[in-house]
Amino acid sequence: MDNHRPTPTLADALNRPLRDLRISVTDRCNFRCTYCMPAEIFGERYQFLPRSELLTFEEIARLVRLFARLGVHKVRLTGGEPLVRQQIERLVEQIAAVDGIDDVALTTNGFLLPQQAGALRAAGLGRVTISLDSLDEGVFRQMNGDRAQLEQVLAGIDAARAAGFAPIKINAVVQRGVNDHTLVDLARFGKDNGYIVRFIEFMDVGTRNGWAMEHVVPAREIVSRIDAVLPLEPVPPNYPGEVARRFRFRDGSGEIGVIASVTQPFCGGCTRLRLSPEGSLFTCLFAAAGTDLRAPLRAGASDGELEQIVRGVWHRRTDRYSEIRSSLTEPRQQKVEMYHIGG
Ligand code: GTP
Ligand code: 5AD
Ligand code: SF4
Ligand code: SF4
Repeated sequence: MDNHRPTPTLADALNRPLRDLRISVTDRCNFRCTYCMPAEIFGERYQFLPRSELLTFEEIARLVRLFARLGVHKVRLTGGEPLVRQQIERLVEQIAAVDGIDDVALTTNGFLLPQQAGALRAAGLGRVTISLDSLDEGVFRQMNGDRAQLEQVLAGIDAARAAGFAPIKINAVVQRGVNDHTLVDLARFGKDNGYIVRFIEFMDVGTRNGWAMEHVVPAREIVSRIDAVLPLEPVPPNYPGEVARRFRFRDGSGEIGVIASVTQPFCGGCTRLRLSPEGSLFTCLFAAAGTDLRAPLRAGASDGELEQIVRGVWHRRTDRYSEIRSSLTEPRQQKVEMYHIGG
């Protein structure tokens, strides 16, 4: 770490520091997960962002340097599916070189990892998280909109391991009546292979995934269902504000995580800022609107001017949607979609 780095002083209206940046590099994806980009809506004719609207890698890297000066130390690349953006490893390389950024991670559906894992590792990517909702072929295909076979994602996980990524995390979104009967198999797969499987409560992100509380399996239930077969015990967080609650197998063979954003919200420790593919800043996964950085960026704003915009956005931030969700009398009508600002 660079000892000359100024102590970050940027705190939001609820006194939360800015620590993490999640960059969605594309709104496109080669899957159509029912809880994210249902195929009925995101069909052949759906208009994704044209290339000219996307921030270039140089523009993103410039913003990352600016964010790093404001206290960001961790960057996660997401999408859509980040690996469908051409030559994404070039962006990884530029971000990994930024002073103050000590953690560069990527969330992917794994499909393109066999071709890309080696180059990503060589470019300086530190960690990968792979989404995999079930090891049951039928369930898996149903959830990804029939865009991939299980073995293709398993090959992606193998490729990540072969490229030297460790530990590998696997994200599974749990939906009652859809994949919850396959949880224990996934936990066992992680245990046997040294992967950290994280079970995520199905969230009401966006407005198009048909979310209802009865489809959510509370994290407490997820843990007790796994614990009944593979005994678990809680472990303290790795760092303050960690999103996943950790549990280890009592026999010492690894751990799982649960992400209980619906039943046990974690907004109090939320230090995350999100950058959309076209350069808007979102202060919450459930935000209705963002703040455009691309227009000033392309109009020639100086670093100082851009920094003032970001400081203002963070300073005014009061978001804690997951904590107030249950007290809202009406569901929020306008929310950004997950594929747009990243998982
Ligand atoms: P690590 O850096 O490995 O600790 O990753 P992480 O715990 O930040 O997890 P990851 O980025 O893989 O996020 C996992 C899932 O948690 C996401 O896909 C979302 O479903 C959910 N999630 C992450 N951040 C937030 C957040 O700020 N709010 C809410 N409500 N959910 C989040
Ligand atoms: N609820 C919870 N997690 C979701 N993701 C996408 N949509 C949802 C949702 N509705 C997360 C998953 C996926 C990542 C890309 O985004 O973790 O693995
Ligand atoms: Fe694509 Fe990930 Fe959304 Fe599935 S969850 S449609 S893989 S962006
Ligand atoms: Fe952060 Fe918003 Fe998620 Fe709460 S709901 S943890 S404020 S992104």
